[in-house]
Amino acid sequence: MSANDRITVPRIKERKLKGPRIVMITAYDYTLARLVDQAGVDLVLVGDSLGMVIQGHDTTLPVTLDHMIYHTACVARGTSRALVCGDMPFLTYQASAEQALISCGRVIKEGGAHAVKLEGGAELAPTIAKLVAAGIPVMGHVGLTPQSVHALGGFKVQGKKRADRERILEDAMAVAEAGAFSIVLESIPRELAQRITDEVPVPTIGIGAGPSCDGQVLVCYDMLGFNEGFRPRFLKVYEELGRMGREAVARYADEVREGTFPGDEHSVSVGSDERPELYAIYGGLKLSR
Ligand code: KIV
Repeated sequence: MSANDRITVPRIKERKLKGPRIVMITAYDYTLARLVDQAGVDLVLVGDSLGMVIQGHDTTLPVTLDHMIYHTACVARGTSRALVCGDMPFLTYQASAEQALISCGRVIKEGGAHAVKLEGGAELAPTIAKLVAAGIPVMGHVGLTPQSVHALGGFKVQGKKRADRERILEDAMAVAEAGAFSIVLESIPRELAQRITDEVPVPTIGIGAGPSCDGQVLVCYDMLGFNEGFRPRFLKVYEELGRMGREAVARYADEVREGTFPGDEHSVSVGSDERPELYAIYGGLKLSR
């Protein structure tokens, strides 16, 4: 596949008018990135959700810039078609536009991302404009912004009150006007997502935001059923790979303990005529456990 087959930022923007809907999924390592790329997704997001599903934290807040660069580089090596978007972790871009330029620049230069994603609304618009002016494509993220989990009082649906709905709409418009090429809408009522999708000139990509967005995103571990305790309403689990994987490992453990794995088909042999010579090498010693 040539570099020309890679999905680009302009091609993502075109989808707003021409379709088809944008398919985004998270990945954090080479092997899974290769798999989702081969499955034909348009965008692979190296989400800071890795803090929860890879690192086992309760929130995304402990994720560092170096963690993101490491995982983004692994994912970039696994893709040849999808656009790779690196998520910017907490407090690596909020302090100033200069801080954001340096942090996002590292995710592009060292991580090999084609774009970055930043959480935030109108307050972030000047920073987004500076990043875009420097040639860094930015994906926005409004609604439930998990890096604000403590300020929001938990991972809760946003936009239940009218004033909140107006603010989220204004945030999305400000982010789009600042030059973001697409916007993630997370955990908001479907009617609000539809209104934002109608108003903003760039594609919206929803998670827990209903069917009217220009695209959808899910966390790979969630939709593949690895995260068995996590079954929110918005999530569709396409395969129960968590259960399947556990059962497979339990079968492996049984077979190792019984001595049925490895079988003849998993072993190489020197042939019966050479066995006496092998014993001679070890001086005829028989090792016992
Ligand atoms: O970090 C992440 O995985 C995300 C998606 C859920 C949009 O931000």
